[in-house]
Amino acid sequence: MDPRRIPLIAGNWKMHHGSASGIELAVAIAKVAKTIRGVEVVVAPPFTVLAAVAQSLEELSEQRGLLVGVAGQNLHHEAKGAFTGEVSASMLVDAGCRWAIVGHSERRQYFAESDALVAKKAQAALDNKLHPIVCVGETLDERSAGKTLEVVLRQLRAVLPTIVPARGAAVIAYEPVWAIGTGKVATPADAEEVHAAIRAELDAQGGAAFATATRLLYGGSVKPDNARELLAQPDVDGALVGGASLDVAQFGAIVQAAASIVRGA
Ligand code: PGA
Repeated sequence: MDPRRIPLIAGNWKMHHGSASGIELAVAIAKVAKTIRGVEVVVAPPFTVLAAVAQSLEELSEQRGLLVGVAGQNLHHEAKGAFTGEVSASMLVDAGCRWAIVGHSERRQYFAESDALVAKKAQAALDNKLHPIVCVGETLDERSAGKTLEVVLRQLRAVLPTIVPARGAAVIAYEPVWAIGTGKVATPADAEEVHAAIRAELDAQGGAAFATATRLLYGGSVKPDNARELLAQPDVDGALVGGASLDVAQFGAIVQAAASIVRGA
């Protein structure tokens, strides 16, 4: 982490939680967030519970100054129209979101999302004042073939023309596909190597101020026992957490790990 960037810990709930358990989890996370300074916390519940979660968080924040942002896990790039089953960026805003995950590897893999489509989604998010969390990452085969940086930089370059003009509003999440939900985590050195390459590309394409302002999250089996080491890397500015974000003790411990680095503890 670098003191010039506020760390961000985002929880991707994927296809988990209805309204009762989702609100309970979000409120419990907000209580942890309240005790912590200097770390931004975001949760990404399923579409069906976004509004309920956002509303409960808003009520809590009015009462107690809590602050947890809400993200959509995906969006459709068109503003509206005959796209059965889809949700637009403005609908996410309407539900109370300020964030949107785009290009998650599960979307790329199971829903055939291309680099070009991911860029359109990031654009739609920015057009609606949502912060896109743009996911990039290589598969195991690509890593084994020595193509990690080639793949990650290809995915990144597709979205750079969209996010450079937005200055620091977009976040990049590096999530090696082989580390997602597998318990196999990249070593801190592996993560830093890719994050540093991403930062260098941001600098080359968008300039030093843009590269310094843009937060880079690591994702893939982040847990309380590996979070601190990953977050201590100079170009790792936070985490995108899947499985461990469903458990308030684990997610809270990851947020605490970020906060302890901020404090220099
Ligand atoms: P995981 O998921 O933490 O369960 O590996 C991360 C993600 O998919 O964002």
